[in-house]
Amino acid sequence: TRPKIFLTRELPPESMAILRQQSDLTFNPDDRVLTKAEIIAGVQDVDGLLCLLTDLIDDEILAANSNLKVVANFAVGFNNIDVDAATDRKILVTNTPGVLTDTTADMAFALLLSAARRVVEGDQFVRAGNWHGWGPLQFLGNDVSGSTLGLIGFGRIAQAVARRARGFDMKIVYWNRTRLSPEQESSLGVVYAEMDEVLRQSDYVSVHVALNDETKHLIGARELSLMKPIATIVNTARGPIIDEAALVAALQDGTIASAGLDVYEREPELHPDLYQMPNAVIAPHLGSATIGTRTKMGNMAAENCLAACRGEVPPNLVNPESIG
Ligand code: GLV
Ligand code: GLV
Repeated sequence: TRPKIFLTRELPPESMAILRQQSDLTFNPDDRVLTKAEIIAGVQDVDGLLCLLTDLIDDEILAANSNLKVVANFAVGFNNIDVDAATDRKILVTNTPGVLTDTTADMAFALLLSAARRVVEGDQFVRAGNWHGWGPLQFLGNDVSGSTLGLIGFGRIAQAVARRARGFDMKIVYWNRTRLSPEQESSLGVVYAEMDEVLRQSDYVSVHVALNDETKHLIGARELSLMKPIATIVNTARGPIIDEAALVAALQDGTIASAGLDVYEREPELHPDLYQMPNAVIAPHLGSATIGTRTKMGNMAAENCLAACRGEVPPNLVNPESIG
């Protein structure tokens, strides 16, 4: 028998085709985030829930259907799901690792370059009709080539950022909960340092940890104060890793020079001052937003969901404790 799946928002066409072929699919056809009540109504009577990072999946939703087998997230991050509660209820949780690594690293680099070279500020200046010719002191930014990049967290995405940085002849220092072997470090061309030291040494700091209780506000006023006044911070991971109010203050008082942000503490709301700040490049959570990558993420989430519904161990299970 075909599994029943509830999908909270439409995915790319290829992923929709897989789901339609192999399941009885119901989905939200509207281009908006569902309310909790709508998700609870949607999961009644299904085997699998396929959801997005914008869906907060708490124990109340998980409790709404005692036959629910799986929550398949269309994202690598899964901080939107109460995984412990799912594990307690023997519900499998899956994510989409690997397929978005390079795409997200590209975005981190796009934000880094845009902030360093004031691309967005310049664009707005030209569009406003303010440009009356080249000038030797116009929009001077900071060099990327030959500078020092600090990576906070050193998983797949950070390592992909490091590979790009090597092409820019950057010196790369990283901090991670666990340190790599000396062989891995030298083959990647990176040096380990404690987090404070990474912040002190770097011209550019890019954040790549998963969001959890330990990493919420990992970067706050104290950490920002350690950074160089010419430094840029980049966040393509999750908003709450940086204390957004402290970041805004640091950008306003010159503690650091600029920021390239793709994620925020209370998406889609931003700290109100950010909208006005010329030294912040602000993108609407586009890290994995390419046609190719979103299709791969959708197919992967669909395969995970279908496998778990069939009683198989899905390829990208994040809570193996939930089985057996
Ligand atoms: C996107 O933010 C993801 O976690 O995949
Ligand atoms: C995310 O998948 C990471 O490992 O950085």
